[in-house]
Amino acid sequence: MLRLGIIGTNWITKQFIDAAQGTGRFELTAVYSRRLAKAQEFAAQYEQEVGLFDDLHAFFSSPDFDVVYIASPNSLHAQQTLAAVNAGKHVIVEKPMVANVADFDALDAAMAAHPDVFVFEAARHIYEDNFHRVRQFVDSHEVTGATLVYMKYSSRYDAYLAGKEPNVFTTKFAGGAMMDLGVYLVYAAIGWFGVPTHATYLPTMLQSGVDGTGVMHLSYPDFDVNMICGKTTQSYLPSEIYFGKDTLRLDAPESITQMDFTTPEGTAQLAGPQEDNPMAPEAAFFGDTITSGDHAAAARQLQLARQVHQVMTDMRLAAGVKFPGDKQ
Ligand SMILES: NC(=O)c1ccc[n+]([C@@H]2O[C@H](COP(=O)([O-])OP(=O)(O)OC[C@H]3O[C@@H](n4cnc5c(N)ncnc54)[C@H](OP(=O)(O)O)[C@@H]3O)[C@@H](O)[C@H]2O)c1
Repeated sequence: MLRLGIIGTNWITKQFIDAAQGTGRFELTAVYSRRLAKAQEFAAQYEQEVGLFDDLHAFFSSPDFDVVYIASPNSLHAQQTLAAVNAGKHVIVEKPMVANVADFDALDAAMAAHPDVFVFEAARHIYEDNFHRVRQFVDSHEVTGATLVYMKYSSRYDAYLAGKEPNVFTTKFAGGAMMDLGVYLVYAAIGWFGVPTHATYLPTMLQSGVDGTGVMHLSYPDFDVNMICGKTTQSYLPSEIYFGKDTLRLDAPESITQMDFTTPEGTAQLAGPQEDNPMAPEAAFFGDTITSGDHAAAARQLQLARQVHQVMTDMRLAAGVKFPGDKQ
């Protein structure tokens, strides 16, 4: 059984713990929060004995857990991942795992010093069966383009408009539309079509310095992919992958339940069922991979993460969306 520690006590952590414990591979044994009372309150939801921490150094030094799930604000992911690896803990870190691809340099060095440690970015959608179905479909058909959309009005945008500073709308915490939602689209594009030859981003900026919405354009040798992400507007548009006169329409690239393939002859539904907890497939992969010691599988996922963050960092910096942690 893998003993799980967590950072971040919002709803997403509970959803991940439910998925992880549901695999039968993980058991929650340690909770970190900036406030001990909050750690206690969070741990009280679970029956088992759980170690409580409000000091990150003591948390990482603790023998209470083997794997940490990190769901803190984005700009803290890289440094917390680094501290965990240096403490010999396996890491499952929420998307985006780095704010800037340059953050991989220190991580690579730490992982070289701790070769037994596993590090995963929790890009949950790429572990879903329907995501794999799309890739298999794309592999066996000639793609002529795609339009991918993930634009959702954020529950925190009203607070932003009221003059507050929700983490996800600040540069300090590496927020904004591309970091929060665009990352799902970049994962989809690279996962399905490979690394683009060129990528650009046209953001619509908020006064706080982050992008509220934006349009990404990815060029491939034989086609282009257009992608729209946003947190200040609600879209109901589906996403589409084109094959000349035929079209594969997805209800949502970040969580596919519908895959309609339309040809001049008619429409076929290609999607399979989805798990109730959207984090269940990734939790199963992480648990199986660590338990079986499959470093090659983990390295493939990390290589994909690196490609995603290279493209995102390049697009973001060229578009003038800057974070305090950027070194370039
Ligand atoms: N995979 C998914 O489907 C999914 C969905 C939602 C979010 N996420 C990811 O999960 C991460 C957390 O998102 P969220 O919306 O929960 O973020 P958040 O509410 O801003 O913060 C998450 C946690 O971090 C701690 N925290 C808050 N402000 C902090 C600060 N100023 N300094 C240090 N720690 C702070 C809090 O825990 P304590 O108070 O206990 O310290 C909080 O519960 C993000 O990276 C996001 O991209 C993923």
